Amino acid sequence: MKFFVDTADVAEIRALAESGMVDGVTTNPSLIAKSGRKMSEVIAEICAITEGPVSAEVTATDFAGMLAEGKYLRDIAANVAVKVPLTEAGLRTCRALSNEGTPVNVTLCFSAAQALLAAKAGAAFISPFVGRLDDIAHDGMTLIGDIVQIYRNYPGIKTEVLVASVRHPIHLVQSAKLGAHVATLPPSVIRQLLKHPLTDSGLSAFLADWAKTGQSIL
Ligand code: E4P
Repeated sequence: MKFFVDTADVAEIRALAESGMVDGVTTNPSLIAKSGRKMSEVIAEICAITEGPVSAEVTATDFAGMLAEGKYLRDIAANVAVKVPLTEAGLRTCRALSNEGTPVNVTLCFSAAQALLAAKAGAAFISPFVGRLDDIAHDGMTLIGDIVQIYRNYPGIKTEVLVASVRHPIHLVQSAKLGAHVATLPPSVIRQLLKHPLTDSGLSAFLADWAKTGQSIL
């Protein structure tokens, strides 16, 4: 399973990339706004940190505008994946850019039917938002299972399931069990994955015993 990091914070991405935990990056207009920086500069900087796909989202809502923005964004770096919302204009843009060999991430997916449409439009990635579904008392993980199963039924579908709106480690573990290809994780969740109290207490005990020996390895 690939791990993408869901942030436009370049310092966070750099730190996580150095630990080998970043296979790609996703951004969205809210994350770019939070960075307080010019979008093209942030995307270029992120693309230089990771070789993996970096999702950059269009903000136009009509086909011509989305296509123009998508072409501008893909020219920032070879590893940009253009992100479009799951609307009719978004799917049309997805088809046009995919036909030209540009990977497209179709975002704001909340149903299996929408995910099928994105696959038919040639999306490289479909982004179902599990946390936002959980927030309204729907089961986000059921959606992931449905999409994975449906895509598997049709081997011609090459679209990867990119689990988005991940809020905690259990979302990641369940997505992996269901066979999702990718999860995009906020940096805080990636760090939560590392933590286990038995790791911390075990290490403390080892170091206390080691200190009693008076030895040093070097
Ligand atoms: C995915 O690409 C989105 O940027 C992101 O996962 C949305 O997450 P949120 O629901 O926590 O805003």
